[in-house]
Amino acid sequence: MSTTTLGIIGVGTVGAGAARRAVDAGLNVVLSNSRGPETLADLVVELGQRARAATPAEAASAGDLVIAAVPLSVHEQLNPAELAGKTVIDPMNYAPTPNWRAPELDSNELTSSELVQRHLAGARVVKVLHSIIPKQLLELHRPAGAPDRTALPLSGDDPGAKNEVADLLDVLGFDAVDLGPLADSWRSEPNTPLYAIPYVGQSPSGLTPRDLAAWAQQAPGVPVSAAGVRELAAAAVRGPAGFQM
Ligand SMILES: NC(=O)c1ccc[n+]([C@@H]2O[C@H](COP(=O)([O-])OP(=O)(O)OC[C@H]3O[C@@H](n4cnc5c(N)ncnc54)[C@H](OP(=O)(O)O)[C@@H]3O)[C@@H](O)[C@H]2O)c1
Repeated sequence: MSTTTLGIIGVGTVGAGAARRAVDAGLNVVLSNSRGPETLADLVVELGQRARAATPAEAASAGDLVIAAVPLSVHEQLNPAELAGKTVIDPMNYAPTPNWRAPELDSNELTSSELVQRHLAGARVVKVLHSIIPKQLLELHRPAGAPDRTALPLSGDDPGAKNEVADLLDVLGFDAVDLGPLADSWRSEPNTPLYAIPYVGQSPSGLTPRDLAAWAQQAPGVPVSAAGVRELAAAAVRGPAGFQM
């Protein structure tokens, strides 16, 4: 079954970016956050008739696929019963803070998506959309077969779910490269060569880390081929998990 409706739980930078790309590609979206549908009214108006706002439970139920675009620190607030049986796209990255750390991630015992899969035991979690900034997602999409089409890495333990997500990426204008099970998804996480930077391209020199981050959020991006994704993933060396602040 091909995806016609995306359920989106968490409508910040990533959720809103995915919603814009999905609507532009002809899909319907059901948006949700923790504060309630009324807080999403402006975005629904902007997106038009293919978008509506609802509760997370309704977004989970309505979506052929569901994107859980919330901070990893609140992933346990995702309702396992509501997401049971669903293919759940996990774009979350580990960002330890003084208030929240995950020892199993700090020790590299698990990847962040294995943590999410353990919580959402009845769902099929596919890690994807975590390694590209939404601005570049909105710029780099191309029709199938275009010579400069960009590829994105995905990981998951369920082959059928990965196929569904690869089909969705194709509709959104991207190729998919399967990096294997969730246990191997560290190869595309922060602090690896595949994470974000290849899609951003060469930054202006002399920027502070803060200015670099702001620049990257607005950079138009450069295409990355499937061969490029494979090469960068193969070059990854596992270090400390998460953003090192
Ligand atoms: N920003 C990027 O460039 C980027 C790129 C790739 C991946 N990521 C990852 O993608 C995830 C989302 O990042 P973001 O930048 O989009 O974050 P964000 O802008 O802070 O948005 C987070 C969203 O999650 C919602 N939320 C929080 N708790 C919730 C709950 N219990 N139920 C439903 N919704 C909830 C928030 O809604 P309320 O305000 O209503 O709580 C908000 O809409 C993160 O894990 C991040 O690591 C980010």
